Amino acid sequence: MKRILVTGGAGYIGSVLSKKLVEAGYDIVVLDALIYTGVGVDALQNHPRFRLIPGDIRDLDLLKTALTGVDCVVHLAALANDPSAELNPALTRQVNLEIYPALLNAAAATGVKRFLNMSSISVYGVSHNENLTEDDPVNPLTEYAVCKARSEAIVRASNRDDFTTVSLRCGTVCGWSPRMRFDLCTNTLTAYAIVNRKLAVWGGMQKRPQIHIGDVTNYLLALIEIDKEVGGKIFNAAGHNTSVREVAETIRAVMKGAVELEDGPAREDERSYTVSSEKISRELGLTPEFSIKDAVAGIVDAHQRGLWCNPDDVLYHNVKRMAAMEKAAAC
Ligand SMILES: NC(=O)c1ccc[n+]([C@@H]2O[C@H](COP(=O)([O-])OP(=O)(O)OC[C@H]3O[C@@H](n4cnc5c(N)ncnc54)[C@H](O)[C@@H]3O)[C@@H](O)[C@H]2O)c1
Repeated sequence: MKRILVTGGAGYIGSVLSKKLVEAGYDIVVLDALIYTGVGVDALQNHPRFRLIPGDIRDLDLLKTALTGVDCVVHLAALANDPSAELNPALTRQVNLEIYPALLNAAAATGVKRFLNMSSISVYGVSHNENLTEDDPVNPLTEYAVCKARSEAIVRASNRDDFTTVSLRCGTVCGWSPRMRFDLCTNTLTAYAIVNRKLAVWGGMQKRPQIHIGDVTNYLLALIEIDKEVGGKIFNAAGHNTSVREVAETIRAVMKGAVELEDGPAREDERSYTVSSEKISRELGLTPEFSIKDAVAGIVDAHQRGLWCNPDDVLYHNVKRMAAMEKAAAC
């Protein structure tokens, strides 16, 4: 593997991954519609092994250009959460699902050897289940999750001896990225704790699997390089099964008590679920290196260094940004 195409490589995960891959010695091509600007990859722009192609993955000519000489594709481009996917379901279907056959065919036809697909533990649906594994049935409850579940099936069916395809079911990601998202659990709680010095926790015993951005990007790097049999497989990369209250307590500890926790009653049906990442650990030896505490500390540090100040900025919230774009397009 020498040249990697990262679709959505200017996004929250993609910005951290692209930097890591450049530093690991790869030639990187990023194809990204720059919905949240190119701020995440600004620092890479002059690097000789980095190329940004601004544009849409649905533009098949552009896609062919981006795939030239590429050995591996990391496919991250998507409307990347439930609310933004609900805004315009037809667009979501196109970007998050219908593009897959053309994308996979173009990749295989141009000699790509490996295709890594970013999926989500949302395919399980939020339930009262414990320790969900890759063998458990999926139960996608939202447009976003339905697209992820169906894309996994398409990706798996495209696996061949000379074209290895893998899907990674990722937990909710946390931690600092140069293209920041403050619409993800730990990131949101940390940002508003810093700004308001208060954190309201309603019950908070519900568990949500969360993975540090350093770990998910390490896993992707490992999947590019790994020599083991991964073709046609799906791996959970859920990270830590953490309750909202544990996150809040971690924030208070990192902020050395400078934040007040306000308790409220739990909502009636506070669904909780945990996901097992035992398979990726057992088969590939991949386990988390980073903690929720590391994620919180990274966001606090970025604030202290003046890298962000207003967590309400539209660019940090996918649904607000998408809604603003839809509104502007309608005028
Ligand atoms: N962040 C999480 O917690 C999380 C969890 C599980 C799975 N994922 C998946 O990981 C991937 C990356 O998520 P993220 O958090 O970095 O989101 P993000 O929104 O920050 O990044 C997505 C990137 O894709 C680009 N994009 C969107 N539509 C495009 C199109 N039609 N053509 C080209 N580029 C397009 C956007 O401009 C953006 O830079 C997504 O597939 C998401 O569903 C994310």
